[in-house]
Amino acid sequence: MLEVHNVEKVYGEAETAVRALQNINFAVKRGEFILIVGSSGSGKSTLLNMIGLLDRPTRGQILVDGADTSTLDDNHLSSFRNSKLGFIFQFSNLLSDLTVLENVLLPRRIQGTLDGATEEARMLLKTVGLESQLKKFANKISGGQAQRVAITRALINKPAIVLADEPTGNLDSISAETTVHLLKSLNRKLNQTFIIVTHDRPQFGDVDKIITIKDGRIVEGELEASMA
Ligand SMILES: Nc1ncnc2c1ncn2[C@@H]1O[C@H](COP(=O)(O)OP(=O)(O)OP(=O)(O)O)[C@@H](O)[C@H]1O
Ligand SMILES: [Mg+2]
Repeated sequence: MLEVHNVEKVYGEAETAVRALQNINFAVKRGEFILIVGSSGSGKSTLLNMIGLLDRPTRGQILVDGADTSTLDDNHLSSFRNSKLGFIFQFSNLLSDLTVLENVLLPRRIQGTLDGATEEARMLLKTVGLESQLKKFANKISGGQAQRVAITRALINKPAIVLADEPTGNLDSISAETTVHLLKSLNRKLNQTFIIVTHDRPQFGDVDKIITIKDGRIVEGELEASMA
């Protein structure tokens, strides 16, 4: 469902060039829960941005559901991204002048598929324990609640792949634990693929696969060990 072939990413040119990723190869199956780990500057966010089609690789291919994304022009790329992928970041990035419900509905508004969306949003918000907060403005809820709203917003388009970059990085330990439990239970319930960048590998317990990045390359031993 996701295939990454020989991906390389170089930022900048000539003497300022930074080779952020090289020789990246892996495949992910539907419904898998995957972590991307590695030290600061190793290339985790760069890799997630490539998978998320937020930026293009310098070389190599990324296939989502069999489609080679390198052949899509920018217009097709953004509609492809909006329908196939859901994003969760370290900061929830909610729009503060919209309510919780309106924030969750935003991707459906953009997609032009608002029909029936309110009921789906209510159901999802109930799953994440926010059914009593629908009408609150996004700047009037806690950080942990805001991150749960962001998770709901990432799921409202029923993406094939949910991508998260340090989703617990800005949370206290209790909210982080709640968020991890929630991500894992949603993964099981919805059978969507989750790919998560984290500094805190132990926080996530058992997962399907761990991709360890070091200096822009996958550390092979760890990938094989995690698949055993
Ligand atoms: N837009 C950019 N322009 C130039 N270099 C960049 C850019 N983004 C990242 N880099 C460089 O690419 C390398 C990988 O960065 P990346 O952000 O992917 O690391 P990371 O593993 O996510 O780190 P962290 O854990 O600190 O978030 C680093 O050397 C970084 O300085
Ligand atoms: Mg990063």
